[in-house]
Amino acid sequence: MDDDSTFETFFANPPEDIDLDALDRTRIPRHISCIMDGNGRWATARGLNRGEGHRAGIVSLREIITACVRLDVEVLSAYAFSTENWKRPEAEVNLLMHLFAQTFIQELPLLKRENVRVVFLGDISALPLETREVFERGLSETRDHTGMVLALAVNYGARAEIARAAKLIAARVAAGELAVEDIDEDVVANSLYTAGLPDPELVVRTSGEMRLSNYLLWQVAYAEFYITPTYWPDFNRWELLRAILAFQGRDRRFGGLSQKEDA
Ligand code: IPE
Ligand code: IPE
Ligand code: MG
Repeated sequence: MDDDSTFETFFANPPEDIDLDALDRTRIPRHISCIMDGNGRWATARGLNRGEGHRAGIVSLREIITACVRLDVEVLSAYAFSTENWKRPEAEVNLLMHLFAQTFIQELPLLKRENVRVVFLGDISALPLETREVFERGLSETRDHTGMVLALAVNYGARAEIARAAKLIAARVAAGELAVEDIDEDVVANSLYTAGLPDPELVVRTSGEMRLSNYLLWQVAYAEFYITPTYWPDFNRWELLRAILAFQGRDRRFGGLSQKEDA
């Protein structure tokens, strides 16, 4: 296997359109978030079943995790299963849940080697036992890791997350721990699954769909979006670099004026 242990070896031999010298390694997004879409269409286009697309999608995620570690990204989040994905045929849901458990166990040594801390966004208590047990094991076995945070959104929906935050806050008020006047943006942010994590700076959606599909509604208020027609199983380290290079070319104004005009 090729040595992929350093930035230089992992990103050796880039395709012609990528100029690695143009990448500003001091301005890598702190939090990159991926809406991993298009597994089914990738498979269908190859005459395979959708399950094969999900398997291939997991291989992509593995590559993107390593790429983000090599780039010193602080947080990589990935949308793996939404609260709406339960509407899919039972066989597909069961396969996904089984694949999550199986590959998570397989990849745990990689996560440990790379000092990655895993967190979950979403209600994992509602997942099938096999998946939940493996996830809980991953949580406890990576808890003390100090490297990149890998936030896996599984059974995640942003509206459910916000409703849950409202309940948590209301309960604290009812218990006399928090005054209504003290509810501010930080209190809300700290009641979300992403409490303590920086907001995504770059959101990538594969397969060309121009929608959020109930993902991180609160957290992406000022994120930059990068939408590529590439299906998730074809999304690799070079596609990620293209997204980051596009991000570095954006003028992020946050409601103010451009850096140039500011001066
Ligand atoms: C994304 O791929 C993976 C999940 C939502 C679990 P899809 O399964 O949505 O693939 P398409 O969109 O049907 O191609
Ligand atoms: C979004 O993809 C959810 C995940 C990637 C897990 P979907 O395929 O579920 O989104 P829609 O249905 O096209 O909006
Ligand atoms: Mg989809």
